[in-house]
Amino acid sequence: MPKSRVVGILAGKEDPLIGDLIETINGTNDSGITAELCNVSELDIDMEIPYSVIIDRISHVFPYYLQYTKHALLEGTYIINNPFRFYVDKYFGYTASREIGVPVPDTILLPPKNPGKGFGGDSLQNLVFPLDWKSITEKIGFPAFFKPADGWGWRDVYKVHDFGELMYRYDQSGDNLMLLQEAIDYDHYVRCLCLGRKYTMPIKYQTDAPFHEQYVIDHQHLTPEQGSRVHNYAVALSDVLDFDMNVCEFAFRDGEPIAIDFTNMVPDMQPESIRWHYYEWAVVHLAKVAIEYVDNPPEPGVWKSAERLFAMQR
Ligand SMILES: Nc1ncnc2c1ncn2[C@@H]1O[C@H](COP(=O)(O)OP(=O)(O)O)[C@@H](O)[C@H]1O
Ligand SMILES: [Mg+2]
Repeated sequence: MPKSRVVGILAGKEDPLIGDLIETINGTNDSGITAELCNVSELDIDMEIPYSVIIDRISHVFPYYLQYTKHALLEGTYIINNPFRFYVDKYFGYTASREIGVPVPDTILLPPKNPGKGFGGDSLQNLVFPLDWKSITEKIGFPAFFKPADGWGWRDVYKVHDFGELMYRYDQSGDNLMLLQEAIDYDHYVRCLCLGRKYTMPIKYQTDAPFHEQYVIDHQHLTPEQGSRVHNYAVALSDVLDFDMNVCEFAFRDGEPIAIDFTNMVPDMQPESIRWHYYEWAVVHLAKVAIEYVDNPPEPGVWKSAERLFAMQR
């Protein structure tokens, strides 16, 4: 069915962005595009979805909404972000990064220490054990980062300094998928908001400061060359991973940005943490993206197109 010129918003009430986003979309364009909270009740396969665009900031913690956005996608609604997505699929992200020429640390995904319930006998016959720890640790070196392949919010991120420490952490990791990654000895760190795969805002980020002092307002923290590199990398990474709303983290070593974490598809947009200055930028640019997409949604990516999805499943 033809879509109304309405942007639907899926988000928790505690997300401060929402009121400002709705107000900005409703108030800043003369094309008749409006925004409202989506109403989601029971999901019926015959249900029609009225929105041209949905901005989703919550289905990552409430999978019921993910079913709604997947249905909406098949109905022709453009979803920010793509519900068929690489949400915190970090290993794929690093691999894709290497493919498109964005520098990332050397990274190895380890098989889970414990395969988990239900895997006895030979059912994992393809897994080669024991691991060749000598070559693994020679490649990555020490210190190294040992962190979850699906992590966020610094959960279970460890800097390991020697083989004993690595083994201790690996033994503790149970059935979690863990990455072992070269530690980048950085002197500058940037979190770069990337919206609509084209609007970027690289923010100086102090990783060892207390929580509310981590983002710093500084308009000179990158040279023009570094700034354009960060912009290009953030756009390329967000595009290849199909994220219209993302934040990409870069550690600078010898002046060069190295991408550390770029699968943050529901980026922190709290004004108290990212600062009002950047918050206002984020609201304005997210509204801009949503408005642009009502009339001109991007070409479906490999993972977004319903036709290709069906083709893949056949
Ligand atoms: N390879 C690395 N080299 C240097 N620092 C790292 C590396 N990986 C992670 N860190 C540090 O740990 C923090 C959290 O790791 P990150 O990969 O961003 O995980 P999360 O998804 O939990 O935020 C980063 O902000 C950075 O300070
Ligand atoms: Mg991070």
